[in-house]
Amino acid sequence: MSEAILQVEDLHIWFDLDEGELHAVQGVSFELEPGERMGLVGESGCGKTTTILAVMGLLPANASVAGRVLFNGEDILEEGENTVAPHRWKDIAMVFQGAMNAFNPVKRIGDQIAEPMELHGTARGRQAKGRVGDLLELVGIPGSRADRYPHEFSGGMRQRAAIAMALACGPKILLADEPTTALDVMVQAQILELLVGLTEELGLALVFVTHDLPVVAQTCGRAAVMYAGRIAEEGATADLYHDARHPYTRLLFAATPDLHGKEKIISIPGSPPRLDRVITGCPFQPRCDRAFAPCPTVTPRTVSVAERHVAACHLNEVPAERLGGAGATGAR
Ligand SMILES: Nc1ncnc2c1ncn2[C@@H]1O[C@H](COP(=O)(O)OP(=O)(O)OP(=O)(O)O)[C@@H](O)[C@H]1O
Ligand SMILES: [Mg+2]
Repeated sequence: MSEAILQVEDLHIWFDLDEGELHAVQGVSFELEPGERMGLVGESGCGKTTTILAVMGLLPANASVAGRVLFNGEDILEEGENTVAPHRWKDIAMVFQGAMNAFNPVKRIGDQIAEPMELHGTARGRQAKGRVGDLLELVGIPGSRADRYPHEFSGGMRQRAAIAMALACGPKILLADEPTTALDVMVQAQILELLVGLTEELGLALVFVTHDLPVVAQTCGRAAVMYAGRIAEEGATADLYHDARHPYTRLLFAATPDLHGKEKIISIPGSPPRLDRVITGCPFQPRCDRAFAPCPTVTPRTVSVAERHVAACHLNEVPAERLGGAGATGAR
């Protein structure tokens, strides 16, 4: 029996477009234990947001889903909205990508944080007001600021308020989508510290979605590296750093900060493949400096390369002596 609080099993998501279908998530599996922090990392368009929106049951109407999402062993997508709605916000909550810019400008912050509580009936009126104050304090904002409007908060404070809002109904899992993007480097560090503190204080499990693998390595015990809708590699962040088994992971670690230190420049030549076309062979092969014979034609299987460490790269399936030093082992 797994101890996982969240299990994502062979998740596939397709978007129905006028021109055909886009296969955004192509067989993603991962597990999260209670209180664990896991990074979901990859370049823009690799399916990170789509994956976690599926866990929340919040995909748009043009999406179809296959696979399973289990919360404490229960398949929450089995009967769509009927099975996922009772868990949304109460058990699993999300800080949306760009959430700090999504507050209604003409409503007080406190009233907006109270909305999920009123909606789910977890608290009302005076009780909800008291809880808003507690939540603000929890994320490092004086409770007295609840009656302020969004424009009176700095970017970092608005992000803290967005986190408070996600925590309103006392979830056990927080899915945070790019929670530090667009914040300056000092504020980024403060938000990361807050998220780590919350997981420790509340026993909250965290899925931290970002394109920044080095930041994940500092924050999370484990990470899943996504590429073109699939998981390229997944394991303990220390193992990914010291013993990357997929060339993409190694390159993500090597990405360098720009002059302002705000964004990491992904210094990998080329770009990910289009997901509205069928991908033949390894999706990373056209950009890979270690591609060899099977890569353009044969899809790599996801194999276990060590304990709790999987990778989908042909280099892991060939005996090391035949690779002549090109093995993914010790690829850093
Ligand atoms: N509502 C939608 N309709 C059609 N295609 C979509 C929709 N949402 C996402 N996609 C496509 O699905 C793929 C995965 O997108 P997704 O937003 O999950 O990526 P991401 O990894 O979160 O990227 P980013 O880092 O830019 O946020 C992309 O090709 C994207 O264009
Ligand atoms: Mg996204």
